[in-house]
Amino acid sequence: MEVAALIALTLLLGALVILVALAVGKRKEEIREELEQAAELTAEGSSAKVPASKKPKQEKLRSRKDKASLHTFSHQLLAASLKSHSANVTCLDFSSNGKYLASCADDRTVRIWSTKDFLEREHKCLRANVELDHATLVRFSPDSRAFITWLANGDTIRIFKMTKKEDGVMNFKAAPEDFPQKHKAPILNIGIAETGKFIMTASTDTTIHIWDLKGEILASLNTNQITNSYAAVSPCGRFVASCGFTPDVKVWEVCFGKGGEFKEVARAFDLKGHSAGVHAFAFSNDSHKMVTVSKDGTWKLWNTNVEYKMQQDPYLLRTVPCASSEGSRAALSPDGRVVAISDGCNVAMYNATTGQLEEEMHGVHSEEINDLRFDITGRFLACSGDKAIRVFHNAPGYRAAIRDMKDMLKKAQNEAMKQRLQQQITEAQSTLDTVLAAPSE
Ligand SMILES: *[C@@H]1O[C@H](CO)[C@@H](O)[C@H](O)[C@H]1NC(C)=O
Ligand SMILES: *[C@@H]1O[C@H](CO)[C@@H](O)[C@H](O)[C@H]1NC(C)=O
Ligand SMILES: *[C@@H]1O[C@H](CO)[C@@H](O)[C@H](O)[C@H]1NC(C)=O
Repeated sequence: MEVAALIALTLLLGALVILVALAVGKRKEEIREELEQAAELTAEGSSAKVPASKKPKQEKLRSRKDKASLHTFSHQLLAASLKSHSANVTCLDFSSNGKYLASCADDRTVRIWSTKDFLEREHKCLRANVELDHATLVRFSPDSRAFITWLANGDTIRIFKMTKKEDGVMNFKAAPEDFPQKHKAPILNIGIAETGKFIMTASTDTTIHIWDLKGEILASLNTNQITNSYAAVSPCGRFVASCGFTPDVKVWEVCFGKGGEFKEVARAFDLKGHSAGVHAFAFSNDSHKMVTVSKDGTWKLWNTNVEYKMQQDPYLLRTVPCASSEGSRAALSPDGRVVAISDGCNVAMYNATTGQLEEEMHGVHSEEINDLRFDITGRFLACSGDKAIRVFHNAPGYRAAIRDMKDMLKKAQNEAMKQRLQQQITEAQSTLDTVLAAPSE
């Protein structure tokens, strides 16, 4: 009973966070924080704009043509289209403090967006220039005060610090030296552990390097998967996993001693069950679940919360048929309840428990989707492919929260609790209705 009550309370709080944040009335501290953020952001403004007079005529013409050819897309669940990049966006990352979304493109910039602006009309962003190169991948540091990038030409990691100047304006400063070049094949992904203890880089040739934050290699692995298609660090910062040509997903633990010194990278467990290569995978926020999407035409959900040192194996929770292709991406909502899978330019959202298809979005981008992830609150699902970033309302997540509150209402003992739940359900439903009734962009 205690456990059930605790879970219920957690769910309720989760739901409340969603609903309160969406409600029109905003609490004082939120407003203060927003004002602070707005001050930061407006100081630089929509920094994509270069004074027109300084642009050569040809460029002006070209940019007009580019605008005209922008892919149009609308969907009931579309919350925002973030447009500022002048080239294809290749990577997205949400900061763990929930405030920012970072994106990078081969327009030589990294953009930092305020997640609080998603439901506003204007989406301002800050711009960090990647001098003499461009970033193909970007990841926030655990404290949300720095980000790491993968340099397309430099073929290595560059760290940027985010600092606030006296006037509150955010400033981006690249570390004096990039990491040494170590990879010999195209890069797949980079990651920085939430513990701040290591950085991971992975390339298609089955090489994974584990680095300290200063750019020294701590360990190098060969995944032995013939060729790799994806690799990532778990949100808990304990594991590194990879997938590719072989049907297994391999998971390692990056081990540190009591004094924080690096010890070893040890095999933890494998996810075995797909009958063909695996395109991609994702972890839930607590790293207790993983979703994998495979060439065999299914996604699988796994419980990975096991004592692998006691020889416990992760176990398969569900297998669900889905459309997928080379480059497909998977995302799992932070609470592990919603699965999203991309296939070319399309995205599908599923109920993780039942496998039921909940939402489909077709032609989201004019190019193949290259990144797909939920924000840390689970309210939004974001993806990239072309110049725009699409942000969707996580409607299945809302519906699940409402369902959970209804279940709690049935079990609620006292009148005050019942009333409060009833009110929350009504508010939640009307919020969801508003999202669904709003004209799409
Ligand atoms: C975006 O990517 C597509 C496919 O890779 C490419 O054809 C197109 O030229 C790119 N657009 C820009 C503006 O870089
Ligand atoms: C995600 O994990 C972090 C760290 O473990 C935790 O602080 C946060 O509350 C979690 N968020 C959700 C939505 O579960
Ligand atoms: C999934 O389906 C189950 C059973 O119908 C339901 O209780 C749960 O809330 C659903 N979850 C989502 C995310 O839709």
